[in-house]
Amino acid sequence: MNSDFVIIGGGVIGLTIARELHRRGAGTITVIDRGRAGGEASWAAAGMLAPNVECRADDELFRICTASNRLYPDFAAELLAETGIDIHLDRSGTLSLAFTEDEAAELNAKYTWQRNAGITVESLTSDDIRKLEPEISASVHSGFLYPNDWQVENRQLVAGLRKYCELNQIELIENTAMERLVIRGGEARAVETSRGAQHADRVIVTAGAWSDQLLPVPKVKPIRGQMISLAASDPRILDRVIYSHRGYLVPRSDGRVLVGATVENVGFSKEVTADAISTLKAAAIEIAPRLAKIEIAEAWAGLRPFVEGEMPVIGRVPDIENAFVATGHYRNGILLAPITAKMIADEVCGASRTSGDQAVRKASH
Ligand code: FAD
Ligand code: GLY
Repeated sequence: MNSDFVIIGGGVIGLTIARELHRRGAGTITVIDRGRAGGEASWAAAGMLAPNVECRADDELFRICTASNRLYPDFAAELLAETGIDIHLDRSGTLSLAFTEDEAAELNAKYTWQRNAGITVESLTSDDIRKLEPEISASVHSGFLYPNDWQVENRQLVAGLRKYCELNQIELIENTAMERLVIRGGEARAVETSRGAQHADRVIVTAGAWSDQLLPVPKVKPIRGQMISLAASDPRILDRVIYSHRGYLVPRSDGRVLVGATVENVGFSKEVTADAISTLKAAAIEIAPRLAKIEIAEAWAGLRPFVEGEMPVIGRVPDIENAFVATGHYRNGILLAPITAKMIADEVCGASRTSGDQAVRKASH
């Protein structure tokens, strides 16, 4: 079999790249996934689009996260028009809360540099917070509202991208693992898979935490994140995403509340542990005590692809003319999917590099 593009790994990154290439009329596209496309980290995520709450400095990662966030309203609207699938982009904003003096001091320091950097953020007293979100614990000290930090339903996003492939003749081959890239004369000639060889003019590896097993790219470490969800309540207990030092709460439009997440360096284990469930439950109750009465609906774990420095690796693979990689999105892969797809499409289609070009360069070093 032969395609213009073979994409290895059908998570949010691979599928968004496939869509972007198709929209640019780039040729025939095949996506190969070892399991079910979208079934790994992209399924496990919380779906927060939080460039401001999650960032720690005014650096390149912050800039690409912000740029990608700005792409989301159009991305969500286009995907809905293309597939009929609504990814529930919720622009209610995010609250970042402090429950102690020390936490407040830390958030205040962040507020100062963020204000200087021109980020929209509003300082709130505990009364302000409880007016906005009456179920937040009375012990809340203070906090900040980030109106430009949003959320999407990432499982719907993956479903929408799968549907896009189905409707647009993008071949999706699942339960098929890439085993080896055949390289001759500095060029990738074929992808050997568990079901035979696939020929491609260009190969793009987007295999998340497994990417460095397939190509000579910087080390990618799997960082486990465990989460729980609390059953739907009517009316909703919370309107906005809530961030605190204890964890985060993500209220979905159907009334469920997601509670996340652990950050664990335990290799490729995706087990859910009793310890994590009780820690997440305690965090949820501390932030919003009424959650104690809600039953746990689901518990799961996924593997974030982490690369030293936390900057994703996006671009051409060193010494292989026609191979590209996009991985290492760590805590922000859902957020970064639209900009990553544009950066890879610019690179493979030969357009000039635009924002985030430092990340593109990193892959070729
Ligand atoms: P994946 O979704 O892991 O996809 C990689 C794919 O490659 C998989 O489907 C896998 O089967 C396939 N693959 C692997 N090896 C092979 C092979 N040899 N051959 C073929 N296929 C292969 N990000 C956010 O932006 N916001 C959040 O709120 C957020 N919350 C998170 C919460 C948790 C608990 C976790 C775990 C992650 C969270 N993330 C969040 C991070 C985000 O989920 C990831 O950064 C993102 O999903 C990475 O996407 P990916 O496509 O690179 O990887
Ligand atoms: N961005 C949230 C997480 O990775 O848990």
